[in-house]
Amino acid sequence: MDLPTDTAALTAVLEDTGPSEGVLPPRARFATDAPVRSLNGRWELRWVPVATAAPEQPWEETDQVWAAVDVPGCWQLQGFGAPLYTSSKYPFPVDPPHVPVENPLGDYRLLFDAGPEFDAGARLRFDGVDCLAQVWLNRELLGTLRGSRLTHELDVTGRLRATGNELLVRVVQWAAGSYVEDQDQWWLSGIFRDVDLLACPPDGLADLEVDADYDPATGHGRIDVRATSTGPVRWSLPGLDLLDREGSGPVDVGPVEPWSAEHPVLHELVVSTPTETARLRVGFRRVTIEDGLLRANGVPIRFRGVNRHDQDPSTGRTVTREAVRRDLVMMKRANINAVRTAHYPPTPYLLDLADELGLWVVEEGDIESHGFVLVDYRRNPCDDPAWRDALLDRTARMVQRDRNHACVVLWSLGNESGPGANLAACTEWIKAADPTRPVHYERDPSYAYSDVYSLMYTPVERVEKIGAGTEEAELEGKQQTAGKPFILCEYAHAMGTGPGGLSEYEELFDRYPRLQGGFVWEWCDHTLWHTTDDGHRFLAYGGDFGEPLHDGSFAADGLVSSDRVVRPGLEDYRRVIAPVRLEVDADRGTVLVTNRYDVASTAGLRFCWRTSGADGLGDSGVLDVPVLAPGEEATVELPVRARPAGRVVTVSAETAVATAWAEEGHEIAFGQSRVEDAPPLPSVPDAPAHVAGEGRVVVGAAELSTRPGPDAFTLATLSGLAVHGPRVGMWRAPTDNDLGRNMIRFGQTPDADHWQSMELRQLATRTLSARLVDDVLEVRQRVAPPMRDVGVDVVLRWWWSGGLVLDVAAAPFGGWTGSWARFGLDLELPGQQADRPLRWLGSGPGQDYPDTGQGNRWGWHESTVEDWQVPYARPQENGVRRCRRLELQVADGRRLVVEGDGHVSLRPWDDAELDAAAHPHELPTSDRLVLGLQLAVHGIGTGAAGPGVLPHSQLTPRALSARYRLSVHG
Ligand code: GAL
Repeated sequence: MDLPTDTAALTAVLEDTGPSEGVLPPRARFATDAPVRSLNGRWELRWVPVATAAPEQPWEETDQVWAAVDVPGCWQLQGFGAPLYTSSKYPFPVDPPHVPVENPLGDYRLLFDAGPEFDAGARLRFDGVDCLAQVWLNRELLGTLRGSRLTHELDVTGRLRATGNELLVRVVQWAAGSYVEDQDQWWLSGIFRDVDLLACPPDGLADLEVDADYDPATGHGRIDVRATSTGPVRWSLPGLDLLDREGSGPVDVGPVEPWSAEHPVLHELVVSTPTETARLRVGFRRVTIEDGLLRANGVPIRFRGVNRHDQDPSTGRTVTREAVRRDLVMMKRANINAVRTAHYPPTPYLLDLADELGLWVVEEGDIESHGFVLVDYRRNPCDDPAWRDALLDRTARMVQRDRNHACVVLWSLGNESGPGANLAACTEWIKAADPTRPVHYERDPSYAYSDVYSLMYTPVERVEKIGAGTEEAELEGKQQTAGKPFILCEYAHAMGTGPGGLSEYEELFDRYPRLQGGFVWEWCDHTLWHTTDDGHRFLAYGGDFGEPLHDGSFAADGLVSSDRVVRPGLEDYRRVIAPVRLEVDADRGTVLVTNRYDVASTAGLRFCWRTSGADGLGDSGVLDVPVLAPGEEATVELPVRARPAGRVVTVSAETAVATAWAEEGHEIAFGQSRVEDAPPLPSVPDAPAHVAGEGRVVVGAAELSTRPGPDAFTLATLSGLAVHGPRVGMWRAPTDNDLGRNMIRFGQTPDADHWQSMELRQLATRTLSARLVDDVLEVRQRVAPPMRDVGVDVVLRWWWSGGLVLDVAAAPFGGWTGSWARFGLDLELPGQQADRPLRWLGSGPGQDYPDTGQGNRWGWHESTVEDWQVPYARPQENGVRRCRRLELQVADGRRLVVEGDGHVSLRPWDDAELDAAAHPHELPTSDRLVLGLQLAVHGIGTGAAGPGVLPHSQLTPRALSARYRLSVHG
C-alpha cells in the first residue's frame, strides 16, 4: 500500500506551474484622485522554516507568537532565516516544478480599518511579494500571486468592514516560480514592495492605455487615449490646448517637442470620468527599427547604459522612491542615458523618474531560468507548455503596468533563459498588445523572436565583425540577425578593480552605426550590511551568512558600492561615454569639439578652459564655441592666454543652467592637451658613493646595507627616514578580473592562474655583483621564480644628485610566456600610518592601469594613503596611480618626495596581506607603508565575466627601465 508522502494541500499550490489565480487582469498604473490608503507599515509575522509544518489556515493560532516586521521588507533582513546568494545555480535540485522541503513560510497579518470611501469599490494592490503569496481578507481566500516582481490587484469590493479588517498573506519562499526567477541576486523573501488599498469609485477609471506618438516627418504629436470605464470619459492636454476631448482613437495634437532621454519633455494628460480624474505625464515619441537601426523619433540612438537591480544594503530589494531617484540622478550625472532593468520590472517608481529625468529604459520581464544551463536546458520552463500561461501572464503584467511610460523603448522578455516556444509566444503577445515597441531577447541563438541582435560580454573582435556586418556571412544564415540593430545588453563587468577596456568598445560603437551601445554590468554591488561576532559592521557577500552553496563575491560587481560610493570604474565610464568630445591641441592652439548627443545640440553647455603647470599655477576662462547640432564638430581656437608654453590645457563642457539632475556648472566632459615629457632626472652625481664602515654604503644622505643575505644592497635610511628595499615584485593580489572566472569561455587562461603557475609571488633574488663605479653604486641582481629556468636580470644604479637617484634596467631571460602582473620595486616605510596626506603631479584623482583611468586628468592632486585604496567588497589589487612627482608627508612631519614617470602604489599592506583578506575589515592594521615604484603594470580587462586584458594592455615579459629620485624635505 502506498502511503502519502506529502499531505499538505499547500504543496499543490506551490508546485502549480500556472499563472496567478483570483487576481484582476493586469492594467496600467496611473495615479488618480480616488482615495488610496497605504498599508505599508508594521505588520505581524509568524515564520516557520518548513512550509508544510504551518497550520493549514493562517489564522489558526499555534504556540508561536507573532512578531512585528516592516512591510515592505524582506524577512531575511528582519531576523527570519538568512539571505542566500547564488548567481545562476539553483540552491535546490533541478526537478521542476518541485520545491525543497526546507521551504520557509511567513504568515503576515494586518488589522486595518477602511473608511466609507472604499465601500463602493476597492482593490488591494501588491507591487511585489517573493515568491508565492496567498491572500485572505477577513478569512476569505481571495487569490494566489505568482510572479514576485509584478503588480497584482485583488478585488475587495464589498468585502471590507469599517473596522477590524483582517488581512492575512501567506508567503512561501520556494515555489514553482522560483525556477523562472533565477536572477543573479540574493534569494530574499516576503512582501518587499508597497501594499495599497485603492478606492475604485463606480464609473471610475478601470484602465487607461495611452499611446503618445511623435511623427518626425511632420513634427506633430498624436495621442490615443483608451480608457476603460462604465462612465463617460473626457480628456485634456492643457499644455497643448486640447481640452475636454472624448473618445479613443488617434488625435493629432499639432506640433510638439518630442520626448527623448536628452530632452525629456512631458505633458500633463488629464483623464476624467464624473467620479475619478487621473493625471499622467506623457511624452510623445516613436520607437522604430528602420534601415536596421533602432530609432527614437526617427533618429538612431546610442545606449550609454547600465544594468540596474533594485538593491539596498540594509533592506535588500526593498527600495524607496528617494533611493531610486538618487540612483538615477547619479547616473545622469555620470552621462549614463539608459537603464536595463535587470532582470525584472523594477519598482514602479523607476519608470516615473526615468520619464522625468530622461533615461531610455529596456524593461525586462520577470523571467529567468538561467540555472537550467547546468542541465543543458532540459525541462526548461521556457519551452514546456505547462508553463506557457504563467510566462504570458508575467509578460502581460509587465507590459500592461508600464506601457504608458515614454522612457520604455524596448520590452525584454527576460534574461538568460535559453530558447523556448513560450518565449516566442511572449513576443507574439507583446506584438499584438503593444505594437509601439520592439522586443529584445538575448539568449535565443536564432534571434527569431527578438527585434534586436543582443549579446553579452562579447570580445571586441566579434563586436567589430558584427558592426561591419560580416558575421552573418560566416554563420551561413544560422541566425536571424541580419538587418537587426546590435546592442551589448551586458558588457564590461564592473566586479572589483576595473572594468578595463571600456574605450575599445566605445570606439567600435562610434565607428559602426549598427552597434547601438551597451549596458555595463552593473550599476551597484549587491552586498548587504552584516555584523561580525565582535560587532564590526561590514558589507557582506555570498557565503557570509553561512550559506553552504553560494557564489561569493560575484554579488559585488557594481560601478558603485551597495551604499552608493562611486568607484573609479564609474568615473572612467562617465568620461568614455561623454556626449561631447574635446580634443585639445595645445601646439596648434585649437580644440576639436564634437557633439555626440543623439538629439541635443550643445546649446545647454558652457565651455571653459584652464591651464596648469608643474608649479601648480594656472589661468582659466570661458571658451566661445558655436552651437553644434548632434554629430557636428568644430575646431575652435584657444585664446592666447590659454596657450602658455609648457602648461597643460584642460577644456571642459559644463551645464550652463541647472537641470533636474545637476547644478549649473556640472562638468559633462573634458579634454586635455598632451603632457610634455618631464626633463630627465640628473645623471651626474653630486657626491661620491662610498663605503662607510662595515656593512654600509653611503650615497649622499642615504645609507644602504651591504650585509650578505636577502637584504644585501638595499636601502636602510634616507635623510634619517627609515626606508627598506627595494624588493622586486611581479605579482599582485589578483583582481576579480585577474581570476577570470569566465575567461575560459573565450579560450583564455585567467591571468591569476598563469601567475600562480609561474609562482610569481615567490621571487628569489641573488646578487651577482656590487661595485662602486664613478661615484655610483651599481648592483646587479638576478630575480627569478622557483621551479623554472626563467628570470629577470636587474641592474640597479644608485647615486646622489639633489636626492637619491635610482636607475633601474630589467631584462628578462629564459622562455617566459603569458604576462607579468607588474614589474615593481617595493620599498617599505616602517613607522608610517595610512592617514598620511599626500599630493602628486600626474594622472588622478583615480587609479590608473593601462586600460582604465580614462576618467583621470593630469595635474596636481591631493589625497591620503587611506583614500588611495579602493575598498572593494573583496580586497584585491587596486589604487595604482600614474605619477611624475609624489609627495608624502611622513610621521615626523617631513615630506618624502619621489620623482620619476611611472605607476606608483602606496598601501599599508603588502600584496600577500591584501590577497589574504576576504573583506576590507580583515586587512591588518599596520604601522608601515609599502611604496611600489612600478616600472610597468598589467591591464585589468573584464575577465570576471568577459574576455581578459586586450593584447596592447598586457604586460608581456619585456625589458624595462626607469629612473627615480627620492628625497626628504623639511
Ligand atoms: C550575466 C547575467 C547577470 C550577471 C552577470 C555576471 O550572465 O545575465 O545576471 O550574472 O552575468 O555578473
